[in-house]
Amino acid sequence: VNVDGTPFRTIWLAGDGETVEIIDQTRLPHRFVTVRLETLEDAAHAIRAMLVRGAPLIGATAAYGVAMAMRDDPSDEALAAARASLAATRPTAVNLRWALDDMAAHLAKLSPGARAEAAYARAAAICDEDVAICRAIGEHGLGLIRAAFEAGGRSRPVEVMTHCNAGWLATVDWGTATAPIYMAHDEGIPVHVWVDETRPRNQGAFLTAWELGGHGVPHTVIVDNAGGHLMQHGRVDLMITGTDRTTATGDVANKIGTYLKALAACDNGVPFYVALPGPTIDWTIADGVRDIPIEERDPVEVTDISGRAPDGTVTTVRLTPHGSAAANFAFDVTPARLVTGLITERGLCAASAEGLLSLWPERRGRAAGAG
Ligand code: MRU
Repeated sequence: VNVDGTPFRTIWLAGDGETVEIIDQTRLPHRFVTVRLETLEDAAHAIRAMLVRGAPLIGATAAYGVAMAMRDDPSDEALAAARASLAATRPTAVNLRWALDDMAAHLAKLSPGARAEAAYARAAAICDEDVAICRAIGEHGLGLIRAAFEAGGRSRPVEVMTHCNAGWLATVDWGTATAPIYMAHDEGIPVHVWVDETRPRNQGAFLTAWELGGHGVPHTVIVDNAGGHLMQHGRVDLMITGTDRTTATGDVANKIGTYLKALAACDNGVPFYVALPGPTIDWTIADGVRDIPIEERDPVEVTDISGRAPDGTVTTVRLTPHGSAAANFAFDVTPARLVTGLITERGLCAASAEGLLSLWPERRGRAAGAG
């Protein structure tokens, strides 16, 4: 994606071939700042403090974290320690575990002397694979937007609603939920996006709005509670969200509030699609509400908010009365029965065990729980 005419990914190897650069997403939309990660600890901090966020990008950053750890110490002990420290950064997005397992599988069989080079190569490949996955998700999802345009008599923009940021900032490029939107826009299909602000961290208002605007996609930021009203009035053709972890049965964990949007979509007959990269499927679990760990974050994200003051400085203000307790659940689970379909890199499928297995036949015969 271009930022002010310059093509950017969200993570890239620096010119020295060792350190890694990222866009500091905590500074957007008011400042565009890149940050250099030099060590495993830098990578872990970037994930934990959400300089990088979004399930695929968390995985890609973790892969480079392992690579930097191997550069410093390629021993078995260092590999295990790197996995452990990165795995502890954020609990819900399974791409983190997927990337760490993948890196370990590639590296464990090598002699320590060969590990650093192989780790950098595999981390780069994970990034390239993510771009290819997102592009394929875009191509498969584009058909849904095209069909909605035809169904509307080609007379008005397709109205898409999204929650949080499952955009290029959440991946290495393209995004998952946004990939079909960008492709439709580039193809000349008029699209308008309702962007849920996504309290408390405002990934919609801060990040999705910023990246859609940068690409010239018409969009409107709405408060999280507006979605049901818009759906009741026929102003949403389809909803597309991302996911941080999808069970082998199609239950979907995504940013807090996604479940309520799915309920409203169901009540109003609005198709609810989830853009799902393969590495976001957790084949080991079958009951999302019971088994997906839901991150709880610092309540200060609920009690305080930051934004740009009239003088241009970015400042934080308190919203709630001192003394009021606050809780900050970062994700919720949308049961498969509320999901119209999954948009994967292998095509569309039903949000069900059978649907997923129809696209991942190599998983047949391996019961959920088998890994
Ligand atoms: O807490 P975040 O910002 O990491 O949450 C991100 C989301 O919920 C995204 O929708 C999800 O990771 C999918 S990203 C393609």
